[in-house]
Amino acid sequence: MTVSPWWRDAVVYEVYVRSFADGNGDGEGDLRGVRSRLGHLRDLGVDALWLTPFYPSPLADGGYDVADYRGVDPRFGTLDDFDALVADVHAHGLRLIIDIVPNHTSDRHPWFREAVGAPPGSPARDRYIFRRGRPGPDGEDPPNDWPSAFGGPAWTRLPDGEWYLHLFATEQPDLNWRDPTVRSEFEDILRFWLDRGVDGFRIDVAAGLVKDASFRDLAGRDHRVVSGPIYSRPEVHEIYRRWRRVLDGYGGDRMAIGEVWTDGPEELARYLRPDELHQVFQFDLQLAPWSASAFREVVLAALAAVAPTGAAPTWVLSSHDSVRHRTRYERPLSMPGVGTARAKAALLLLLALPGSAYLYQGEELGLPEVTDLPDGARQDPIWKRSRGGLPGRDGCRVPLPWSGTEEPFGFGPPGVRPWLPMPAGWASLTVEAQASDPSSMLAFYREALAMRRTLRGDLPEDLTWLDAPETALFFRRGPLTLALNCGDHPVRLPPGRPLLTTAPLYGDLLPGDAAAWLRTRG
Ligand code: BGC
Repeated sequence: MTVSPWWRDAVVYEVYVRSFADGNGDGEGDLRGVRSRLGHLRDLGVDALWLTPFYPSPLADGGYDVADYRGVDPRFGTLDDFDALVADVHAHGLRLIIDIVPNHTSDRHPWFREAVGAPPGSPARDRYIFRRGRPGPDGEDPPNDWPSAFGGPAWTRLPDGEWYLHLFATEQPDLNWRDPTVRSEFEDILRFWLDRGVDGFRIDVAAGLVKDASFRDLAGRDHRVVSGPIYSRPEVHEIYRRWRRVLDGYGGDRMAIGEVWTDGPEELARYLRPDELHQVFQFDLQLAPWSASAFREVVLAALAAVAPTGAAPTWVLSSHDSVRHRTRYERPLSMPGVGTARAKAALLLLLALPGSAYLYQGEELGLPEVTDLPDGARQDPIWKRSRGGLPGRDGCRVPLPWSGTEEPFGFGPPGVRPWLPMPAGWASLTVEAQASDPSSMLAFYREALAMRRTLRGDLPEDLTWLDAPETALFFRRGPLTLALNCGDHPVRLPPGRPLLTTAPLYGDLLPGDAAAWLRTRG
């Protein structure tokens, strides 16, 4: 049984389309590839998929630079493929969330091309954020000191002297959300995809749409702070109230989840007012180190943040933007097997928490971050803009290994090189290899997800903390007790009958870097 509406306790699987499965043999993942592998997601036991952008795009930022919001990039398929995917997803009993990128377009979007060709002060320019440089003889300094999140200044100058804002890469000009045509266009885009049957949206850079009208300098403050001029300006909430009305106009529990980074719970809660977004990402777990006290603190804070809103919390360990958690948990020491052991234990924590869990493709295979990609293969604008100073996010975006013993490991047809090289050692990590091994990460994910499904109807939406040794964390939700031991030494388990453990128990002792689910009565 699921809690209603579906997304309140859903497990959502993030599909990074370009790296999931290559259906047309060009070395990049695509919608046909996703369709062909829906059985994997059904067998895994997730409730929904979130597709990263598949729209026409020059891929300056992996598709988060959209040139046409109503189409499918030919590399990824066609609108017919999309419609067939929606039908197949639903036939598999799954839901579909798609990414929407409203903060910026691609510099190849017809609006930006028109803006570049139009004179300063024209309505075409007003859809973006064009400004003169700082006062001075030539205005050769950018209008303010805002940095791009990918490094370097957030402004680029056109030959006619005006500067345009891009909080990310140069190829991602920021839209001006004070312009009514931008607002109505996006409401129309939402309807376009809702009419095609999507169940929801993941809103990229959701807090950044409206900038402070003063465009004041950050003057040394972190650009992400909500008290600053860029993120979580009060006017952004008007946009989501209107989006909510659009979503509510459709049946079937359509939803929206915002990618919102805030520096405080009050700010987060504002997005979750009953007439705004259904969910926001809470990145607390992803940011926490491997430590019981750190986990306890972030869980407490995350629950407290959503409590006044009535919204369900969300949890995430990895995404296409972060170092894979198996590898994070290995650092700084790299002891063989420790990352995998901890990743299994973290899954039991994630799935025992109230609310919904967002998984990232490949974590069910225990994939590590690929840290030794050749420089020439790297594509992330973070890598490019830092001139190789920062590794960027390609290492978590390496295509999935499905089968076989050599590249491309069933990702695409034999002999076709994937867009990022795949490590030779991945033969033992393929879906095929793991599916037949009861001790694999994949088998463990399937078992844990199946068990959560069986239990979920009986789990209350809150949790009760139990006393635990310093290195451990214990809590109870009705019939389920979670015990997680982040230390090196075994700890005594709380009461209950073991249902699922990540490592063998010694009597009633839980080893270090391990977790258990226990069945509790009464
Ligand atoms: C996405 C990133 C992207 C950035 C700019 C982020 O929130 O998750 O992958 O680079 O937005 O669109």
